[in-house]
Formats: sequence, C-alpha cells, structure tokens
Amino acid sequence: MESNQYHKSELNSEELLQIIFDYAAQITTENSLDRLLMLMADMGRKMTLADRCTLWLYDETKNELWARVAHGMEEVRVPSSVGLAGHVFQSGEPLVIDDAYQDERFHSVIDIQTGYRTKSVMVIPVKNKLNKTIGVYQVINKLTEESIFHPNDLKYLSLAASYTGQALEAMLVNIEIEETQKEILFKMGEIGEGRSKETGAHVKRVAEYAKLLALKAGLDEDEAELIKVASPMHDIGKVGIPDAILNKPGKLSTEEFQLIKKHSKIGYDLLKSSKRSILQAAAIIAEQHHERWDGKGYPNGRSGEDIHLYGRIVAVVDVFDALASHRPYKEAWELDRILTYFREERGKHFDPMLVDMFLRNVEAFVKIKEQYS
Ligand code: C2E
Ligand code: SIN
Ligand code: SIN
Ligand code: SIN
Ligand code: FE
Ligand code: FE
Repeated sequence: MESNQYHKSELNSEELLQIIFDYAAQITTENSLDRLLMLMADMGRKMTLADRCTLWLYDETKNELWARVAHGMEEVRVPSSVGLAGHVFQSGEPLVIDDAYQDERFHSVIDIQTGYRTKSVMVIPVKNKLNKTIGVYQVINKLTEESIFHPNDLKYLSLAASYTGQALEAMLVNIEIEETQKEILFKMGEIGEGRSKETGAHVKRVAEYAKLLALKAGLDEDEAELIKVASPMHDIGKVGIPDAILNKPGKLSTEEFQLIKKHSKIGYDLLKSSKRSILQAAAIIAEQHHERWDGKGYPNGRSGEDIHLYGRIVAVVDVFDALASHRPYKEAWELDRILTYFREERGKHFDPMLVDMFLRNVEAFVKIKEQYS
C-alpha cells in the first residue's frame, strides 16, 4: 500500500449509500453472531476506506474485549482497559490517531503477533439504546494517499456504529436468553438427579453422550443439540422420590422400586404443558427413557419405534453411564462387562441400530467419560 497505484480516493456519497444499503439488508437478516461481526467489520472497513477493521465486544464475565480479527482465526482478547480499544471503551469517546506508534496508549502486541504494521487508527465506541458502551469499532490504516483518517470518516463510522449497535444488541440479548435457558434446564436436571455428589458430572456426560449418539444415528446438528440440551432433565421426576430410597445403599424392595419407577411419569407431567421445543423434547425423554425395545419397560410398555427416538437414545446412554459409574447400590462395571451387556440387550432392552452405533464408536464415548469424570 505504499505504492501509488494502490491508493484509493475518497468515496462520494453515492458510493457510501451503496455500501450502507448492501450491508444493512444482510445485517438485519443475519442470525449467526460470527457472521454478523464479520459483516459489520467489513462494512466499517469499506465505509472508511481502511485496510482493516475490528469490532471489539465487551465480555463482562471476564472484563475483557474480544474480537475475531480475521475470518476463521481464533478470537483475540485484551483486558478492557488496555490499548486504544480499551481506552475508548473506558472513556466512551472516539479517538483518531495518525501514527499509533507515537501514542503511548497503543498496545502493539497484535502487530507483533501478526507482523502487521499499524499506522493510522480510528476507534469509536459502539453503544446500545441505553447509551451503554457494548464494544468498540477500530479501523486501521487509511488506504488513501494521505493515509490518515478525517472527520468525515469519524462521521461515517459513527453512523455504522449506531446502526450496528442496535442489531448487535438484539442478537446479544437473544444469545443471553438462550444461554440462561440452557443453564436453568441444566440446573433443574442436576436437582432431579437425586441429591448425590457426582450428579453434576452425570448430567453433563449424559448430555454429551446423547448428542454424540444422535449424530451417529444420523440426526442433524440442530436436532442433536436439542437432545443434548433436553436430556439433562431425563430424571427430573426424581425430585418426587424420597432421598432414603434414591440413596439406599442396597437393593430396593419391590415396593420401593415401584415408587422409583414413577419418576418417568412425574417428570413428564412436570414438563408436558410447555410449548417450547426444548421442554417438549425434555418431556418425551423424561417419559420414555425407561421404555424397552421389547416392550417390557415402563411407564407405558411401548415397544420398537413406538418409543420416540429421543427416548431410545437416552435409554442407551443413561444405562451406559449408570453401569460405568459407582452408585450407592452398585460398583462401576469394567468396560468389557458393559459391552457384553449391550450386546446381550441389543434388540431386548435397546434399539439394535443404536447399540450398533454405540459399539462402533465406543472409544468416543469412553473419551467423554474420561473428560467429565
Ligand atoms: P440409575 O442409577 O440412573 O440407573 C438407570 C438405569 O441403568 C436403570 O434403570 C437400569 O436400567 C440401568 N442400571 C443401573 N444399574 C444397573 C445394574 O447394576 N445392573 C443393570 N443390569 N442395570 C443397571 P432402572 O432399573 O429403571 O432404575 C431406575 C433408577 O432407580 C436408577 O437410576 C436408580 O436411581 C434407582 N435404582 C434402581 N435399582 C436400584 C437399587 O437396587 N438400589 C437403589 N438404591 N436404587 C436403584
Ligand atoms: C473481520 O475483520 O473480518 C472479523 C471481524 C471481527 O470480528 O472483528
Ligand atoms: C489497541 O487498540 O491498541 C489494542 C489492539 C491492537 O493492538 O490493535
Ligand atoms: C446419581 O447420579 O447419583 C443418581 C442416579 C441417576 O439419577 O442416574
Ligand atoms: Fe431414570
Ligand atoms: Fe440418569
């Protein structure tokens, strides 16, 4: 960009409008955060004729600013008070700098990491409707011959920021709600798991196993993720079962087992009235995870494909995890014993197709077990 033939001339207002129109349409319909950030960075770069543009977002859980500096690259993180970006984030006021290396606030680690040479820089805050700063826009190296940013650039980037701030916040709020929902479901699942110490890990493993088996069974990523999010609730109905029975060290009496068996119906009744897809899936799983392929399970004695696939999947992974774990009433089994058991129960307790998928990929399941033990 030192050579004249690469220098750009300032945009006229028609070109500017064209850029805004092109990106506005894409930004309002985009539903992936990564792609949204990419579009916004591209738009900022084009509107200001900058060589690079980074959109830094504030992560309040870590008090850091983070960004994906290039397509496909890992995210970069800096403390929220570091560098020019951090300065603007803290002050809420824009900065326009002709030579970054003359400014002591500049933080050159990223230049050093990437071998890139920053010269002119402009940074402006991105604010939400309540005027709270949620991130900053940073454009680097103006591509005109003069190679510095002008007041017009500041105006254009501010325009972009006010527009993207709103789209961005709508998406961040959605993500926050979804994450919160998942966390609540997960916590409820932990409660349902009987009040023992290992429960958190059990719920996590069942969720991971269930997603893996769903993918191996040919379900797509979205549906596998749905099963993962819903499966921690499979035993939520155990909230209705006394501790003395749940944590009984030995074998249950017939009456006690009759009582425990009610947990699948209790869980279903707790969840069934919701119209949300996650809770509907959770209701099905809670109800059907103790049905058996041969029809001898509970609560309804359904058989074969009359048992919902989600229930059949969780049946396999729940038993795998129960057998591989210590319980108040049993020791953990060796892997060989578990595999023999699944071969024997193929087509009796379990869907034969799912048992085949499980056995074929057993190392991946064992790996999850080791990861979450
Ligand atoms: P859980 O411990 O999560 O076990 C889930 C399922 O894994 C069981 O469903 C069963 O299909 C299988 N499973 C677990 N341990 C063994 C085992 O040692 N051998 C065999 N062959 N299969 C096993 P199930 O039987 O419907 O039990 C539902 C829940 O009832 C269990 O969940 C557990 O909380 C409780 N439970 C079952 N049997 C006993 C027992 O003998 N003592 C106590 N204290 N609780 C039991
Ligand atoms: C990019 O520069 O293409 C990535 C945008 C960002 O996340 O900062
Ligand atoms: C800064 O804005 O000074 C920190 C980020 C960077 O090094 O580009
Ligand atoms: C536990 O993990 O201790 C409870 C058993 C279960 O609900 O699977
Ligand atoms: Fe259960
Ligand atoms: Fe369980």
